[in-house]
Amino acid sequence: MKIAALVSLLGFLAACDTVSAKNDKKKKGELCEASFVLIGDSTTNNNTVTPNSGGWGNGFCASLQPGIGCQNFGSNGATTGTIVTRGLYEAAINATKAEVADGKSVFVTLQFGHNDMKIAGPESMAANLTQFVSDIRSVGGHPILLTPLSRRGFNNNSATINNSLGPWADATRGVATQTNSTLLPLNEASVNYLQLIGPNASHLMNRLPADNTHLNVGGQELFGRMVADLMALLTGFESNFATESPFVPNPPLSEAIWTGKQYVFHAICPSYNASECIGDEPRPL
Ligand SMILES: *[C@@H]1O[C@H](CO)[C@@H](O)[C@H](O)[C@H]1NC(C)=O
Ligand SMILES: *[C@@H]1O[C@H](CO)[C@@H](O)[C@H](O)[C@H]1NC(C)=O
Ligand SMILES: *[C@@H]1O[C@H](CO)[C@@H](O)[C@H](O)[C@H]1NC(C)=O
Ligand SMILES: *[C@@H]1O[C@H](CO)[C@@H](O)[C@H](O)[C@H]1NC(C)=O
Ligand SMILES: *[C@@H]1O[C@H](CO)[C@@H](O)[C@H](O)[C@H]1NC(C)=O
Ligand SMILES: *[C@@H]1O[C@H](CO)[C@@H](O)[C@H](O)[C@H]1NC(C)=O
Ligand SMILES: *[C@@H]1O[C@H](CO)[C@@H](O)[C@H](O)[C@H]1NC(C)=O
Ligand SMILES: *[C@@H]1O[C@H](CO)[C@@H](O)[C@H](O)[C@H]1NC(C)=O
Repeated sequence: MKIAALVSLLGFLAACDTVSAKNDKKKKGELCEASFVLIGDSTTNNNTVTPNSGGWGNGFCASLQPGIGCQNFGSNGATTGTIVTRGLYEAAINATKAEVADGKSVFVTLQFGHNDMKIAGPESMAANLTQFVSDIRSVGGHPILLTPLSRRGFNNNSATINNSLGPWADATRGVATQTNSTLLPLNEASVNYLQLIGPNASHLMNRLPADNTHLNVGGQELFGRMVADLMALLTGFESNFATESPFVPNPPLSEAIWTGKQYVFHAICPSYNASECIGDEPRPL
């Protein structure tokens, strides 16, 4: 097991080196270029026109420098079981392999819980995530585990979030500890932010007025940036992965997120009708 991990690590380093050596302008030992593969449910999915969809993936990809790869395999209604049976997990692993072969430093995000919680206890999801981490490493990718994005339902419409995802966040954190993977505490950060801005401001990011799970365009941009900021802070691109930081900063949005200020002031595109959404710019939020 340890030898296999070492071999895949060496394989990954060799891929990065090969690209550097081929390119006259790149020096030996130069930082690798990042590429992203996103795996998850509808709260990761790239979608603004299908019912019960709209996640942070779009906003996250939009926070990257132009040209940085970002492929979103989030799937509406998916669990850690159905993402596999739908073929999307294999497609994501294939995409990871292809990017590794292309000399990229490939980061694969895993975020589940919203649907897993409807069918089994947290241990089932944890066992599946542990397998995913191992699979991703075996093809030379770097797994990044995220605790699930908070829903925007408040207890009695009061100041506290009804965080029924808590045990699935804990299970995800446990997998990260056991596998020494990067863990982004998205559940904790999103609960905290939503409680600071309150119910009305939180619900302006709903995909439809009564949908407290999915995000409209403003919510996608905001929570995509929250993921990007957590990743910039906690992954250690340069120090741990010899990879260039891939993000384009957005200081006003980051400041709002981390000081608990409202940023989305209009519910942009609160419709499932594509022709009412296309062309809607995410600003002013
Ligand atoms: C998101 O969906 C749009 C519209 O289908 C597409 O143009 C874009 O490439 C997708 N982005 C990602 C990261 O998959
Ligand atoms: C975990 O994966 C298995 C298949 O390997 C599946 O039967 C099970 O439902 C999955 N658990 C969850 C919570 O999705
Ligand atoms: C993944 O790659 C394998 C090997 O090239 C191929 O047989 C398989 O069809 C691919 N799967 C998906 C879902 O793209
Ligand atoms: C909702 O409010 C009622 C009345 O104020 C209170 O008794 C109850 O405990 C609250 N429920 C929750 C889940 O906060
Ligand atoms: C809390 O969330 C759970 C699951 O989403 C839901 O079943 C329950 O009714 C919610 N409770 C309140 C007080 O909103
Ligand atoms: C855990 O991962 C970090 C960062 O990738 C690495 O520096 C460290 O050596 C790893 N620790 C163990 C025990 O594998
Ligand atoms: C929140 O919205 C409700 C319904 O529109 C309104 O009655 C209430 O005054 C608002 N609360 C705040 C703090 O703005
Ligand atoms: C979608 O919106 C367009 C523009 O407002 C409208 O013409 C069309 O009838 C709508 N389609 C549906 C299915 O509601």
